[in-house]
Amino acid sequence: MLSRISQLGARLLRETRAAGNLSSNSSNYYRGQVSRHSTPAKSILFSTATSSHHDEGGEDKEKISVTFVNKDGTEKTISVPVGMSMLEAAHENDIELEGACEGSLACSTCHVIVMDVKYYNKLEDPTDEENDMLDLAFGLTETSRLGCQVIAQPELDGVRLALPAATRNFAVDGFVPKPH
Ligand code: FES
Repeated sequence: MLSRISQLGARLLRETRAAGNLSSNSSNYYRGQVSRHSTPAKSILFSTATSSHHDEGGEDKEKISVTFVNKDGTEKTISVPVGMSMLEAAHENDIELEGACEGSLACSTCHVIVMDVKYYNKLEDPTDEENDMLDLAFGLTETSRLGCQVIAQPELDGVRLALPAATRNFAVDGFVPKPH
């Protein structure tokens, strides 16, 4: 009786091993398939890395020239990376543009005047929130915008932005944004 049980045990053990081999074989086969599939995935990764490297190279060139006209009439031309707001750019370059709410559309202290209507027309239309804040801005003109909402884009290369106190000077000098 005991030997029968041990025989049975041995058979079970053999069968279990056989099943184990089978499953291990099948998992090898599966791994083989996975590795075959992984080859193109690698090349996709590689090509992604290559294109991102290319993009990095392009980013260096993606800067535009922006001139700020200070309150005292002096000018400062800076290089602004595409995607950066004029408020951030001003702060990085020690230009006196306040930006009290740090770009959260809760003030109008980042008010700038786009000096050329051609550039003004290239900007996205202001949102209602921006217009509400602009209404509170000192020295509002027809080409006024909030600096934190003006984002550098390639088509804005060469734009000139006046800081509000200079507005009066333009008015005195006969600056008319929209001649009739
Ligand atoms: Fe306050 Fe632009 S920084 S609205």
